[in-house]
Amino acid sequence: MGSLNQESVLAVLRTVKDAELKRDIVSLNFVRSLEIDGTTVRFKLVLNTPASPSKKRLEQAAREAVLSIPGVEAVEIRLESEIPQARIAEGKQTVPGISNIVAVSSGKGGVGKSTVAVNLAIALAQYGAKVGLLDTDVYGPNVPIMVGVNAEPAVRGQKLLPHEVHGIKVMSLGFLNRGDKPVIWRGPMLHTAVRQFLYDVEWGVLDYLIVDMPPGTGDAQLSLAQLVPVQGAVLVTTPQEVALGDVRKAYNMFEQVHIPVLGIVENMSYFICPACSERHQIFGTGGGADLAKGYNSKLLGQVPLSIDVREGGDIGIPIVVGAPDSPQAEAFKQIAQNVATQLGLLTLGGVGLPVIDMSDNRGDRFAV
Ligand SMILES: Nc1ncnc2c1ncn2[C@@H]1O[C@H](COP(=O)(O)OP(=O)(O)OP(=O)(O)O)[C@@H](O)[C@H]1O
Ligand SMILES: [Mg+2]
Repeated sequence: MGSLNQESVLAVLRTVKDAELKRDIVSLNFVRSLEIDGTTVRFKLVLNTPASPSKKRLEQAAREAVLSIPGVEAVEIRLESEIPQARIAEGKQTVPGISNIVAVSSGKGGVGKSTVAVNLAIALAQYGAKVGLLDTDVYGPNVPIMVGVNAEPAVRGQKLLPHEVHGIKVMSLGFLNRGDKPVIWRGPMLHTAVRQFLYDVEWGVLDYLIVDMPPGTGDAQLSLAQLVPVQGAVLVTTPQEVALGDVRKAYNMFEQVHIPVLGIVENMSYFICPACSERHQIFGTGGGADLAKGYNSKLLGQVPLSIDVREGGDIGIPIVVGAPDSPQAEAFKQIAQNVATQLGLLTLGGVGLPVIDMSDNRGDRFAV
């Protein structure tokens, strides 16, 4: 190795690659404020998300690389993160202050969208991101119960204030229509409400806004997907064939509106018997992985079927808050890391993104 100067330090740091983003940390602009102070090298490592799965490994690899330069005795690294504004489909309006909007969707009801949306949002916040959660499920907004808040939002000036709970900001149609009275939402009403939830809610600055979508792939969902300037979608499925079939429909829906699918979450994937600790594959295995592979997409994570997950939802203390070290919470954290990584890839220009060829009729291409 050569002498100790900015160039020689950058040269060794160029050999440190982010395995997920498949680029080196210098070209990713992660290395900032590089200083050489005698035999000490000091710099910031500014990652593109605080939920990076590579955080520790990159810091260590960077430290070792710089220590290999003759004359370096100490390396001081400050780990930070800066979440960039994601790209958005042409012609769509962004929501000021919100860097990334992620829709959590599925073709089928009851597969755990809201559970995933809530735990994903909180897990991202636990990593240090600024996160909002918007419940657009007009048919049965479950988010208020799941986060344990059921009060009308306050109004400041012309804006609604989201509730702040478990470290995230939350808005739900359920906060406005409390009680059991069903609302018949006609298309335009729904549009107005959702538009208001995007633009007339005081979200402030958000790194991620997670949007819990209503079930199904009908017109209402399609226009909602079009209305919300979403950067990427997370599809939730259970490993049953019927749910997988529905997820294909959801996949097609997002393609129609040019929203990239960040990946698939397999929920209720397996059951860990509380008595014998054995893992039971109630709905079979590998469905989500096969589906992801079929679409050249990513399996973002597998969440076990667990009484604690359901109870957490029922009492308003999501599992990532109530039992943050449990395997179930670990599954949601992994999903959060993967979602953040996929969004990062998207922002970097689509390196490694699922490439979906729409030129032929794909309907029967998959043997899932
Ligand atoms: N991994 C899990 N283990 C146990 N129960 C779960 C799990 N995931 C979700 N549930 C439970 O299943 C039920 C449905 O979940 P959830 O409301 O999240 O689904 P959904 O897809 O949002 O439903 P909908 O289509 O009605 O909006 C809830 O009672 C929830 O607590
Ligand atoms: Mg729901």
